Amino acid sequence: MNSRIAVVPGSFDPPTLGHLDVISRAARLYDELHVLVVHNPGKEAMLPIAQRLSLLEQSIGEAGIDGHVIVGSWSMGLLVDYARDVDAGVLVKGIRSQVDVAYESPMAIVNRHLADIETVFLLPDPAHAMVSSSLVRQVAALGGDVSPFVPPVVASFLDTGARGL
Ligand code: PNS
Repeated sequence: MNSRIAVVPGSFDPPTLGHLDVISRAARLYDELHVLVVHNPGKEAMLPIAQRLSLLEQSIGEAGIDGHVIVGSWSMGLLVDYARDVDAGVLVKGIRSQVDVAYESPMAIVNRHLADIETVFLLPDPAHAMVSSSLVRQVAALGGDVSPFVPPVVASFLDTGARGL
């Protein structure tokens, strides 16, 4: 597997400014970056995968992120199967706190056992350290303004398009 090719996986339900921060940092580090919307069997989703994919593509375009970034989705099985398919040798995750370290560490170890793939943790800009998709979902559901936490395209979608969900 190629250590110059990386995957940034996540639920992205919805994409946040914290996600974009990690994606832009990772895009500078690797020759090819796959940003992958993955079904998390442990979470009940707000948005369908196709919607998350579309918002992610638009957010990355809107942010003008440099580098070779490919956006995709994966609901066919293990994340490492996708990584093998695209020859990626690295998974990249953002770490905001000790809570994230505790959540991500077992997955990193399991993925390494499954496919001999390394996980690299990036620290986000402190401005985004408190942003999470779950908080954004909660604020949006209760009618609050999510624009400080998400890309503009996501804010306008949540303000209008998601009301029927
Ligand atoms: O944004 P999230 O919900 O924290 O992302 C977690 C995700 C989707 C990356 C993780 O649940 C995952 O990798 N799911 C795919 C299934 C899989 O490969 N499971 C074994 C890895 S431990």
